[in-house]
Amino acid sequence: MRIAFLADLHMDYLWHEKLSEQKEQKIAELAKEVDALILCGDNAAVFTNLEHHRRLYRAIREHFNGPVASVLGNHDLWSEYCLRTIPLLMHHHPLLMAEFDIINLEAQNLDLDGLTIAGTYGHYDYSLGLRQADLGESDWENGEAVVYGHPESFLDKKMQDWEGKHDREVCKELLDAFESRLASAAQPLITISHTVPRADLIPHPQTPEHIFCSGYRGSSEIGRLVHAYTSMLHVSGHAHAYGRAKEYPTTFISMGAEINIWTRFVFNTQNRHESVHLEALRDEDEDSQDG
Ligand SMILES: [Fe+2]
Ligand SMILES: [Fe+2]
Repeated sequence: MRIAFLADLHMDYLWHEKLSEQKEQKIAELAKEVDALILCGDNAAVFTNLEHHRRLYRAIREHFNGPVASVLGNHDLWSEYCLRTIPLLMHHHPLLMAEFDIINLEAQNLDLDGLTIAGTYGHYDYSLGLRQADLGESDWENGEAVVYGHPESFLDKKMQDWEGKHDREVCKELLDAFESRLASAAQPLITISHTVPRADLIPHPQTPEHIFCSGYRGSSEIGRLVHAYTSMLHVSGHAHAYGRAKEYPTTFISMGAEINIWTRFVFNTQNRHESVHLEALRDEDEDSQDG
């Protein structure tokens, strides 16, 4: 069985229409080659009625009848247009996914002929944060700090609304529920998270921005959990940087997709062959310069 993983599509038909249309085309081509499709979050920009998510899911279903499952990403939970973060996670997104027969991995595992796919958005608990420039918990909780003289901020802290819950609490609640799904999962097991499961999976450029944002990469607890439950493969998004790490029996893949970089990862469950493909796409600005 060939399982395709996509992450960080960030479909946005308002500001990046041509990029989004190119990604739809890529999805249509990919659909011909694979048996299951797994979305690792940051699927689309949130607008009032999740219309950009709806258009993505419709495009997928126009070309693919097989099993589709998804976790959400931090951008799928931005609450700037009426919808609130917790209702988005618990209500709006699950309803929309159900409409397109997409399994919401935050609520249930996907069974693929005896192989289990389990997943979570993950969130962040600062455990992957670089503790430099005297950065600490309170800076990451506040969402802004001055790092080596540069003012830095993280937009999630303004765009998500966890109704008073701290990041650590959100992360722990999601991972406790994830662990109970892992405990009930039949082997063999493949896992996904939107956020990053371990520090060595991604590069940490020593710029003030990256040092500050490292606190919001994910949680080392995700990596510990999936390894303890002997996941054979863990795929994550969010970092927008490709990475691979191995701790037997788990292979960890960070997808490395960017808004203008089409990235797909395909795993063959029979021979465990991994196929990574990254391809730069043309953005609108380039097209308009070409006339
Ligand atoms: Fe992203
Ligand atoms: Fe993300």
